[in-house]
Amino acid sequence: MGLVDGRVALVTGAGRGQGRSHALKLAAEGADVIAVDIGGGQVETISYELASEADLDTTVSAIEAMGRRAVKAIADVRSLSDLQAAVDAGLSELGKIDIVCANAGIGGWGVCWEMSAQQWHDMIDINLTGVWNAARAALPSMVERGEGGCVILTSSTAGLIGYANTAHYTAAKHGVIGLMKVMSAELGPHRIRVNAICPTTVNTQLVTYDATSELFAPDKTNPRPDDVSDAFTSLNSLPIPWIEPADVSEAVAWLCSDAARYVHGIALPVDGGNTAKKGS
Ligand SMILES: NC(=O)c1ccc[n+]([C@@H]2O[C@H](COP(=O)([O-])OP(=O)(O)OC[C@H]3O[C@@H](n4cnc5c(N)ncnc54)[C@H](O)[C@@H]3O)[C@@H](O)[C@H]2O)c1
Repeated sequence: MGLVDGRVALVTGAGRGQGRSHALKLAAEGADVIAVDIGGGQVETISYELASEADLDTTVSAIEAMGRRAVKAIADVRSLSDLQAAVDAGLSELGKIDIVCANAGIGGWGVCWEMSAQQWHDMIDINLTGVWNAARAALPSMVERGEGGCVILTSSTAGLIGYANTAHYTAAKHGVIGLMKVMSAELGPHRIRVNAICPTTVNTQLVTYDATSELFAPDKTNPRPDDVSDAFTSLNSLPIPWIEPADVSEAVAWLCSDAARYVHGIALPVDGGNTAKKGS
C-alpha cells in the first residue's frame, strides 16, 4: 500500500525541481498525476529559463514508467483559464482531483527601493496569484464531489521570516501562508485539509543560477557551489547548506497521507532549523 493509493494529484511546476520530485513521490505512493508546467520560455525579470516542454515530458514518462497515469498540461499559472483547462483535462481523463500541490514559482533578488514594478508584479503574479489560481481552478470539483482532499501550498522560510533582497518573494510567500489560513477555515468543513510547506534553500535551479552565487559570494568571480555553501549553511542550524527536492517531497507525501489526517492549517518548515534559529 502506498501513502496515497488511488488518489489523483494536480502538481504545478512539475517540469523539474521540487514539483517534479513531488509528482514522482506521489506517483510512487500510488497517485495518478496531472502534471502542469509552463512549457518553456522566460520571464523577462528573472535571469534563468523556466522548465521546457521536454522537461515536463520527462516527468510524465517517469510517472508512466511507475505504472501510474499522467496527464500533461502546459499552463502558465498566471492564467486562471490555462489552469482551468488543465483541471478540466485532468478531470476528464482521471475522473477526480484529491490533492493539489500549488508549487510553481520563480526566484529573484532585488532591494525593495530599486526593483522595477515589473519585477514586483511578475513575482506576485506567479508566486501568489498563481497559487490561488491553481486552488481556484481545482477546488470546485473537490467541494462538489464531497470526498475531502488535501491542498499543499508551497511557501518558503521566506513566508515566515524576512530576508533582505527579497521583498517581492517574501511578500508573496507570506501571502501564501495567509491564503492557506483562510482556505483552511473555509475548506475544513468540506474535509479538505489545507497546509503550507516552508522549505529552506533547496538545491534547484531557482537558487543555483548565477545571480544567487554572486549575491552570496560577492568577492568571487564566477563563484562555484563550494564558494557559496558556507553562506547558505549559516542560514540553517543543522550543518547543511541546502536540502534536496526529495527531502521536501517526503513531507508533502506525509501531509497528503491519512497519517496526517488531522494536520490542517499549518505552515510546516522543512528547514534545517533555519526559522527557529531566527526566533520565528
Ligand atoms: N529552491 C529553493 O531554495 C526554494 C526554497 C523554498 C521554496 N521554494 C519554492 O519552491 C517552489 C518550486 O521551486 P523549485 O525550487 O523547484 O525551482 P525550479 O525553478 O526548479 O522549479 C519551479 C518550476 O515552476 C515552473 N514555473 C515557474 N513559473 C511558472 C508559470 N508562470 N507557470 C507555470 N509553471 C511555472 C518552472 O517552469 C519550474 O518547473 C517555488 O514556489 C519556490 O518559490 C524554493
